[in-house]
Amino acid sequence: MVAQAGISVREAEVLSLVGEHLSNAEVGARLYISVRTVETHVSSLLRKLGAPDRRALAQVATEWSRVARGGKAASALPSPVTSFVGRAQERGALAEAVTAHRQVSAVGPGGVGKTRLALAVAAAAAGDFADGVWFVDLVPITDPAMVGAAVAAAIGIGEQQNRTMDESVIAALADRHALLVLDNCEHVRDGVAPFLERLLAGCPRLTVLATSRARLMVPFERVYPIPPLSLTGDGDSDAAALFLERAAAVGWPLAPEQHQQAAEICRGWTAWRWRSSWRPPGCPRSDWTASPTSSPTSCGC
Ligand SMILES: Nc1ncnc2c1ncn2[C@@H]1O[C@H](COP(=O)(O)OP(=O)(O)O)[C@@H](O)[C@H]1O
Ligand SMILES: [Mg+2]
Repeated sequence: MVAQAGISVREAEVLSLVGEHLSNAEVGARLYISVRTVETHVSSLLRKLGAPDRRALAQVATEWSRVARGGKAASALPSPVTSFVGRAQERGALAEAVTAHRQVSAVGPGGVGKTRLALAVAAAAAGDFADGVWFVDLVPITDPAMVGAAVAAAIGIGEQQNRTMDESVIAALADRHALLVLDNCEHVRDGVAPFLERLLAGCPRLTVLATSRARLMVPFERVYPIPPLSLTGDGDSDAAALFLERAAAVGWPLAPEQHQQAAEICRGWTAWRWRSSWRPPGCPRSDWTASPTSSPTSCGC
């Protein structure tokens, strides 16, 4: 491709760095050439590629590097070691939200299944994002100011001259049509919110799917409350199916006549859990209770 366009090896190197949104001075420092020489290479690239401006050059660089990777977009999702059970309705609804909105927060109490659902939705949506999907686990981050650095590490961006880490991430994702999954935002919401505001403003083709125990409180946020696994039916609900599968996995397969008992255990446990630990977003009542089948948005406050 490079040869076809009559581009020299040095020009290809410059193009690749322009694709990373480095300035001429930064490109020069990286390649040990003068700024004047970089300018010459950039002019030559604009002419040879018929690109109207530097932004168009960066887009060409992004596209070429994608083709060089075999046409495959980056996909950096962890692979869970256990199977994913059920959630048909939630998968559809969350996928729809991610398609329609640029920042979606999957919100619910710890253990309800936010991470697994986000991963399932991201894996299914990967093909819709030409530049791929990235996953960032924010659990190890304790300082809200380090959210950008965590994203930078996940997408493979190092520190760049004359740029903060946040600016480097925004520059790297500026032209990317990608999905960024930010998992476990709750404890660093103070850092996530301002970072996301700048990231989404600077990266018009980027979509962010966040998981959090509480909503992020950013103006453009689309909140998707994650309900517990479904409990309808006697032994054929998602919750019971997960129970039966995991029981079988540890060498305790349940006979069909025990399935109803399994469903009852799930109901009892979920009712306790919901009473004790979580209320719908914005619900002020400390005595809020939910039946296991009620919607997490239907507390009536
Ligand atoms: N739909 C599902 N299918 C299979 N396992 C699930 C499913 N949802 C949650 N789990 C399991 O339940 C546990 C908690 O889920 P997780 O996604 O980590 O919750 P959260 O992110 O809300 O804290 C994990 O062990 C996870 O593998
Ligand atoms: Mg999680």
